[in-house]
Amino acid sequence: MRLLSIIGVATLSISGVAATLAIDGEPNVNSTLVQEHLKNREKLIALEKTHRQDHIFRQSLSPTAKRADEIVQAIRQYEIDNYWRVAGTDDGEVAERFPGEPFPLARPLISNTTLWEVVKRMPKGALLHAHLSAMLPFEKLLEIIIQTEGMEISASQPLDTAEAKKNATFTFSHNNGTVSTEESRIDSADYTPNTQIPIKTAVENFEGGEAGFVDFVKSRTTIPPDVSIRHELGVDEIWRRFQACFGPTDTMIQYEPVVRKFYQKLFEDLANDGINWVEIRSGGSSGKLVHDGDEEVDPDLDAWWHVLVEEIENFKATEAGKKFLGARVIWSDARGKDRTKITKSMKIALQRKQNFPELFSGYDLVAQEDLGRPLSDLAPELLWFREQTEALNLTIPYFFHAGETLGDGNSTDLNLFDAVLFNTRRIGHGFSLYKHPNLINQVIEQNVMVEVCPISNEVLRLNEDILHHPLPAMIAHGIPTAISNDDPAILGQDVAGLSYDFYEAIQAFDNIGLAGLVSCIPYPLRDHGLLAHNTQQGSLAQNSLRWANFEDQSDKDWIQDIDRGEDGTSTKAKHIQAWNQDWEDFCKWIVDEYGSKY
Ligand SMILES: *[C@@H]1O[C@H](CO)[C@@H](O)[C@H](O)[C@H]1NC(C)=O
Ligand SMILES: *[C@@H]1O[C@H](CO)[C@@H](O)[C@H](O)[C@H]1NC(C)=O
Ligand SMILES: *[C@@H]1O[C@H](CO)[C@@H](O)[C@H](O)[C@H]1NC(C)=O
Ligand SMILES: *[C@@H]1O[C@H](CO)[C@@H](O)[C@H](O)[C@H]1NC(C)=O
Ligand SMILES: *[C@@H]1O[C@H](CO)[C@@H](O)[C@H](O)[C@H]1NC(C)=O
Ligand SMILES: *[C@@H]1O[C@H](CO)[C@@H](O)[C@H](O)[C@H]1NC(C)=O
Ligand SMILES: [Zn+2]
Repeated sequence: MRLLSIIGVATLSISGVAATLAIDGEPNVNSTLVQEHLKNREKLIALEKTHRQDHIFRQSLSPTAKRADEIVQAIRQYEIDNYWRVAGTDDGEVAERFPGEPFPLARPLISNTTLWEVVKRMPKGALLHAHLSAMLPFEKLLEIIIQTEGMEISASQPLDTAEAKKNATFTFSHNNGTVSTEESRIDSADYTPNTQIPIKTAVENFEGGEAGFVDFVKSRTTIPPDVSIRHELGVDEIWRRFQACFGPTDTMIQYEPVVRKFYQKLFEDLANDGINWVEIRSGGSSGKLVHDGDEEVDPDLDAWWHVLVEEIENFKATEAGKKFLGARVIWSDARGKDRTKITKSMKIALQRKQNFPELFSGYDLVAQEDLGRPLSDLAPELLWFREQTEALNLTIPYFFHAGETLGDGNSTDLNLFDAVLFNTRRIGHGFSLYKHPNLINQVIEQNVMVEVCPISNEVLRLNEDILHHPLPAMIAHGIPTAISNDDPAILGQDVAGLSYDFYEAIQAFDNIGLAGLVSCIPYPLRDHGLLAHNTQQGSLAQNSLRWANFEDQSDKDWIQDIDRGEDGTSTKAKHIQAWNQDWEDFCKWIVDEYGSKY
């Protein structure tokens, strides 16, 4: 404002005496004034960056990593200019395309990019926020079910019309003996409701065969692109659809041979995506197991968890799993349950923790935050639970979902305050956190990390596209963050790994860049050596290990290990050191593979 008025005055006086003064020279980039402006600009931007969470991390890139960073920045920019920025034609022949377009529309285009090839190879560290039944794409799970001896399907009504396919509930089960039904088609009008049909028979005879059957199941367990982009319908509408997707998944992962293969496939896909540690949100209602060659659920509540423990070890013993560090479970209760049910489930969680101290990592409340119980409402249960863990000498820290909302000041938004007061070690989503400067300071001080799920937030209609996501604001404010995928089988990533979520973040924001690489820093700055290189992305992935709950620790030890990061000999430090080595190898691969082209 001040500057404008000075210019205004100057202009006036110049025009007043225009006749007597000559116009002198041309604008020149080398003039003292311009150079002074550019210098001030650099200083101001550099000052801003000192607040960034990744500021320190950025200072330590090796020469290879620096080069890799430049290459990736060049790839990204090339693809923005030549691949993503396409003007559509009026006749619709050429579709409009732009960098940062909604994920459901961009997804089929992403796999054709070089940046995608790079991101897929990136060592991603830990996956810290994902819900078990929505982690592995359903076509993969169905393939396992269809190939498993004795699996059957039944439906509450014949699946003969589009409407019936929408309304019916359907159930997978295992039959121990021979099936005594003449029926072979679940999608025929003659089908007798609730009759079990061997899955192979039902699939072979399904309209469209196996592909048709998979399409049907996916129509009930996934949110299609044309639905998720309808932001005009709002958050509650998409959540109704989303919650409904979990219904059919209950009986899909119940039969022991299926469950075992499910875990092997899931861990294999994660490892292939460069993920070597996972904390799975599960528990609550799930965890029902039908043993090999059986039909009924084992009433022993440990049965399900024994299988998980065994399969983690089995996978680590395979070639594909030799770098896999393992998995833990964050016990998760639906926040919509009444007090009695939540308390009952908490007691079950406490028993499981006693029986499987290494498996269980922490406790959380899940499902739609907006319509569920706020954390403040659950204060009696949550504080009682804390007392129990202390009395029993159990370490079950909180990892709360909080602030997964568009609200500002309503009870969902305020969950963030409760989560911090309840000493949450990480926050799931924290989408509304950026609105609360004081709480941000507290989060940073308490070393709380936010598990950011960019595609989940977009598909569940909090932001219209990645460009409207608060992730860059969080990083800029100094909030520790890592990338997660939440429910990739349902929300459209349709792969178990993190590559799409990482791609979105790297592609969208100049300030993020690849390996925590250089993209955010203007070239003149780097040339003047004012700033070290930007290592943000490396930071995002490395953070996931820094905030991974590898083993039970007191609050004091937990914080100390986060502070020390890669220094020292703790379990955490060793895992970060190993990741650092993978990171260097990855950077070298980038330089070898793309160095001559970019
Ligand atoms: C500014 O200075 C640089 C190097 O000192 C020179 O190469 C360039 O041509 C100059 N630009 C103008 C517009 O004078
Ligand atoms: C994908 O890449 C190939 C080769 O670079 C190109 O021929 C093809 O047109 C691309 N597809 C799309 C959808 O851009
Ligand atoms: C499907 O459900 C709707 C709403 O409950 C009902 O009106 C309709 O008759 C049902 N159709 C079929 C074929 O089940
Ligand atoms: C299922 O069959 C196995 C042998 O194949 C048998 O041991 C088991 O008792 C049977 N279970 C039921 C519920 O029939
Ligand atoms: C509590 O558990 C830890 C191991 O987790 C053990 O070292 C300690 O002795 C236990 N304390 C009591 C009072 O049982
Ligand atoms: C909080 O506000 C957001 C935005 O209006 C809304 O979507 C959400 O349902 C609200 N939460 C509650 C508990 O009312
Ligand atoms: Zn979640």
